[in-house]
Amino acid sequence: MAITLAFDVYGTLIDTHGVIVALEKHVGDRASEFSRTWREKQLEYSFRRGLMQNYENFAVCTANALDYTSSFFRVPFSHEDKQVLLEAYSVLPAFADVEEGLARARESGFRIFAFSNGSAVAVEGLLKNAGIKDYFLGVVSVDEMKSFKPNPAVYSHFLRRAGAIGSNAWLVSSNPFDVIGAISSGMRAAWVKRSPDAVFDPWGIEPTVTVNSLLDLAEQISREHGES
Ligand code: LAC
Repeated sequence: MAITLAFDVYGTLIDTHGVIVALEKHVGDRASEFSRTWREKQLEYSFRRGLMQNYENFAVCTANALDYTSSFFRVPFSHEDKQVLLEAYSVLPAFADVEEGLARARESGFRIFAFSNGSAVAVEGLLKNAGIKDYFLGVVSVDEMKSFKPNPAVYSHFLRRAGAIGSNAWLVSSNPFDVIGAISSGMRAAWVKRSPDAVFDPWGIEPTVTVNSLLDLAEQISREHGES
């Protein structure tokens, strides 16, 4: 049976900290810190909305998190400033290893999907803008389930939509909560350790493989299947 890959989007393929340049204009050398808080709040809001069963499109989590971060940093933004920043979020760049990593995965015969908290429209726009959309057989969004990662229902939904089974399907993500969610739901998972300082959550659930770059992904996954 063919191997299926579910690529997480924000933080794995697409660099959410691509907004730092746009933020510098407003917060100067605090732009990195601002971007990190914005991203952490965005994810927290998605977790809370999932738990509360109070779903809104991921873009709402992003916009609410921007408002929070602007208050937290005491930097008021005009309506126009916010629109510009949210617009920047819809054209974020891909990480440098992504195109070649996807090409190698395709050469290995893997079935490649994007699987994201973002809506299908937002994700398709990002992939298109980054020039990598053609590598994907499809985009699966949690929006179809009106919930967020790491609800087990969204990983099951991915498998159904992709026509795959867990033992032959891999989540590929830089987000430890996503890796743990996928493994808990019966998938395999590759953790993309995008920074040497990244720490994996100590829950006693380890990634099936860890890669420092997507360039190593296809080989590592092929090796796992060769050995099993
Ligand atoms: C995504 C979130 C986890 O793209 O960033 O699904």
